[in-house]
Amino acid sequence: MSTRRVIVVGTGYVGLTTGACLASVGHRVTCADIDPAKIARLRAGQVDILETGLAELVSGGTASGNLDFVLGARPAVVTADGPVALFLCVPTPMGAGGEADLRAVESVVGEIADVLPAGSVLVTKSTVPVGTAARVADMLGRDDIAVVSNPEFLREGSAVSDFLNPDRVVVGSDDRAAAELVGGLYDALNAPVVVTDAASAEMVKYAANCYLATKLSYVNAIAGLCERLGADVEAVIEGMGHDPRIGRSFLRPGPGWGGSCLPKDTRALAQVAEAAGYAFPLLDAAIDTNLAQHAHVVAKVRRLCGGALAGARIGLLGVAFKAGTNDLRDSPALAVAELLAAEGAELTAYDPAVNGELSRLSLVDDPYLAVKGADVVVVLTEWPEFATLDWSLVAELMAGQSIVDTRNLLPLNDLRAEGLACHPIGRAPVVPAARSL
Ligand code: UGA
Repeated sequence: MSTRRVIVVGTGYVGLTTGACLASVGHRVTCADIDPAKIARLRAGQVDILETGLAELVSGGTASGNLDFVLGARPAVVTADGPVALFLCVPTPMGAGGEADLRAVESVVGEIADVLPAGSVLVTKSTVPVGTAARVADMLGRDDIAVVSNPEFLREGSAVSDFLNPDRVVVGSDDRAAAELVGGLYDALNAPVVVTDAASAEMVKYAANCYLATKLSYVNAIAGLCERLGADVEAVIEGMGHDPRIGRSFLRPGPGWGGSCLPKDTRALAQVAEAAGYAFPLLDAAIDTNLAQHAHVVAKVRRLCGGALAGARIGLLGVAFKAGTNDLRDSPALAVAELLAAEGAELTAYDPAVNGELSRLSLVDDPYLAVKGADVVVVLTEWPEFATLDWSLVAELMAGQSIVDTRNLLPLNDLRAEGLACHPIGRAPVVPAARSL
């Protein structure tokens, strides 16, 4: 294992997970960020990000002396006493035209270019367009520093376990020895290491995320067709998933895919393809199908409200983009809420991990308050606790009887027994006997 010093710039969920996990496998890691309050909190052992095991790794790393936190990338670099592996984990948000906004990457590179010790390796971990490693090398203007692309494949909510049990590590550089050196930092994790050139490593990340998004749009489209044809998407998924060429994972239908990565990366790759004059209708269709999925959920709710949403009271269960996180970025739940509100629905929402103020809906801190007086309730995030609500109480509190379950999470027969009608995705509704809904 290489004993090189590691510096991680950016302490978001990717940076902090990378820093804390590399420290936990024995590397000496400094994490840097430009936010003084965040650095102060991290030094005090406070982790704001909801990631299982992360707070423990941060406090363990700090106690062992393997992990520390510094304000600013430059101060972190100037105190290093030899070559470092510096991981760039700063945000690359989506710019106005769908392209990745690289200002944070450029600013860090500008800040450290003249102080990086000779023989150091600069590692791009943020999702960056193909060609960024080459651009960063140009910006650095240093022959004695290699740039390596090392995309991350972490999922929010399970980032620590994904980092420590990777399916693969991808490292790409035009300097193969530097790529192997970065791959060596992961030796303790016993994962296959794919060593390639920088552009291919950068492409792996987009190709993987866009494939996952396309897979989900495909299954959501199949679910829609199942509804039309009277088939049950759950049985269809089960039947498909046994084929190892398809696999069972990432095949759950839902209200559409969201989060900080898939929407951004699909639009960025579509934009890159367009700029390259390359037609990629498959990717365009995956994005459009996702937007149509939000509309499909709204159409279901509208139908249950008798054809119009104006003045309808809708209870929403879940606003986070998936269970296990409080992240609202590009949340499909919020996209659905926006469309419902635009048609005049009154929205009350509950999410176990989200509190505070949200525009266009009133957020409550108890699921039973969200369903109280609702004409229709919509489950939008797959929090397991939604499956075990007291359905008799829900039925008593609601003004209507219909629940739209966009995650196929709820126990249909329990709901029916309490006089509730459940409308899942891609399968027939289950309605109480002798009631026409
Ligand atoms: C995604 C990828 O899964 C990671 O591999 C990647 O590293 C990460 O983006 C990234 O680029 O940083 P993440 O954004 O955390 O991870 O979320 P996912 O777990 O992929 O979920 C994305 C969306 O798809 C969510 O809205 C989720 O609810 C939805 N989803 C996921 C489904 O509707 N069905 C599924 O079967 C799986």
